[in-house]
Amino acid sequence: MAIYLALETSCDETAAAVVADGRHILSNCLISQIKLHQSYGGVVPEVAAREHLEDINNVIDLAMQQAKVKPSDLSGIACTVGPGLIGTLLVGLSAAKALSFAWDLPLIGVDHLIAHVCANYLESENTGFGVGARHARPIYMRADAIHPYANITPTNITPAQDSPLRESRTYENLTLAPPFLALLVSGGHTQLMYFNDFAQAQIIGQTIDDAAGEAYDKVARLLGLNYPGGPAIDRLAAGGDKTKFKFPRAAVAGFNFSFSGLKTAVLHCLQKIEQPWPVADLAASFQETVVSTLINKTLQAQAKTQAPAIVLAGGVAANSSLRQQLPALSPVPVFLPKSALCTDNAAMVAAAAFYLSTAPRPLGQSDNTKYLIEKTENAQLTVYSRSKLRSEIIESF
Ligand code: KG4
Ligand code: ZN
Repeated sequence: MAIYLALETSCDETAAAVVADGRHILSNCLISQIKLHQSYGGVVPEVAAREHLEDINNVIDLAMQQAKVKPSDLSGIACTVGPGLIGTLLVGLSAAKALSFAWDLPLIGVDHLIAHVCANYLESENTGFGVGARHARPIYMRADAIHPYANITPTNITPAQDSPLRESRTYENLTLAPPFLALLVSGGHTQLMYFNDFAQAQIIGQTIDDAAGEAYDKVARLLGLNYPGGPAIDRLAAGGDKTKFKFPRAAVAGFNFSFSGLKTAVLHCLQKIEQPWPVADLAASFQETVVSTLINKTLQAQAKTQAPAIVLAGGVAANSSLRQQLPALSPVPVFLPKSALCTDNAAMVAAAAFYLSTAPRPLGQSDNTKYLIEKTENAQLTVYSRSKLRSEIIESF
């Protein structure tokens, strides 16, 4: 058994987790800073770094205690090395380096985006094969491999007769393995990635401006909702009419996305309509535009690549509409991490580390981690007293 302790500090969650064989969560601990940043309407990098510094040792102790493991049980230490906020990454990386030296364990640097996708190797919900007869499509695979979905038996098949979507089927004992297509939708990124290996991907499409989560956060701010905007809009949309407002869908070439025009369209719409705004209808119409855009591009990419499975990842993968609609429309199984594993956590970093370490890539030796390590090692973390820090931030807002 290979057990990894992983740390995640790329943004506003201080997280540590212990995971066995990249699949079994022994502990998954997290201290969220969301409440602290809410008053600023978004994450303040220097405040976030300072909070990580306060919490990192506690969260590591907690993760080791809950997992009931000793340092000698571990196969390695993993940490996120980017993308993320430079000051916050530095805290996790410094802690991970210290533990790796002290406990004489290898250190694995993990790309945050790959880690989000690897959340699907943990406990995920396996759904798929939606509308009509398209489900009968054969699964294509490498000639030398027996694909894990070759002989699956669907359960829970109860098509809803009066709905354009049919209820998704759930598969028992379906284990995710490459190749697959991943839609990564987070606060900072929106990417379609093709995974030929467990933790290595080729980017086949991405946003040319705002990320999907960023659009949620910005539109939520326009509507007067709290940060992070995604969960708030998702909740409101459930009680709204998604056909009430027609927002534009950006036509972008290939498998790329664009969401900044949508945010501007919502702003212009708010300037025209009278108060009180029909916030639930606005939320539902905005959400429908984002979700249908994400789904259309993903299904086009699946058709082009013939990927035998689709994987959702990142904070926006917690969205109820995306989770319901994509499996119902997909011709191939769709994997969804449990909602709590969609947003930032350290268990996903440990899962990625397990698969990365099967082809050992010590910290600093792979191209992307080398760049990030150099960046973090050269970074200067400005240390302020807490009261000075707060007063400077208030002034600059
Ligand atoms: O992956 P994540 O935790 O952090 C980044 O790596 O960015 O994603 C955070 C993003 C935020 O923009 C948040 O608004 C969005 O995920 N989000 C959601 C939902 N839950 C979180 N967006 C839509 N619907 C949700 N239910
Ligand atoms: Zn993230």
